[in-house]
Amino acid sequence: MGIQVWIRRQPIESPNLPTEIVQVNEVIQPVSSLDWDALQKQVIACTSCELHKNRTKTVFGVGNPNADLMLIGEAPGAEEDIQGEPFVGRAGQLLNAMLYAINLTRDDIYIANVVKCRPPENRNPNNNEMASCNNFLHQQISLIKPKLIVAVGRISAQHLLDTNTPIGKLRNQQFNYNNIPLIATYHPAYLLRKPSEKRKSWQDLQFINNNLTTILQKIQSYDNLSNH
Ligand code: URA
Repeated sequence: MGIQVWIRRQPIESPNLPTEIVQVNEVIQPVSSLDWDALQKQVIACTSCELHKNRTKTVFGVGNPNADLMLIGEAPGAEEDIQGEPFVGRAGQLLNAMLYAINLTRDDIYIANVVKCRPPENRNPNNNEMASCNNFLHQQISLIKPKLIVAVGRISAQHLLDTNTPIGKLRNQQFNYNNIPLIATYHPAYLLRKPSEKRKSWQDLQFINNNLTTILQKIQSYDNLSNH
């Protein structure tokens, strides 16, 4: 499968030496054909944008790869860059508490980010960086096949929905991302800065939970019908 890459190895400074032809074992494959392991390896090796230069670890994602619910944040921060896991800093602790409030843990769901490497000084990822990582995220979604996506924060929601609409206007509605229902909510880092918005975030959690329950019930009744 894929394209075989052959490289002619000839020391430039001594052109008279015999040429060595080596087959590079790493076969280039389109991201859309990669399985979970191959996808992870490509993310680890990725140098497509500037962000790879300063990263400690890539942050692929964490949780249940068969999850019904997939959360998509923005980009790794300092702690995530060190540990190689999304949402492990202060915002992550609040996210865990929010999940707990709707009887979910990190192991029940899948958590990823739009970009897999930390932007310097935690700035927002730019369009080029998000575009460079887009195939990876898209393939993660294709492999997980979540029943519901939650875009966590403005950057993620606007990127996934390809819009400039403020997050306050995107929340509390159901959208579609490639035929998968998508709901947007505030980023926990924003809630840490603005605790007065926590009440709205609690409403979002109820909205997410109700939507997920309804979606799963519909799938269950469809499965029951098709088994008869
Ligand atoms: N913020 C995000 O959007 N993602 C993380 O992984 C951590 C903080």
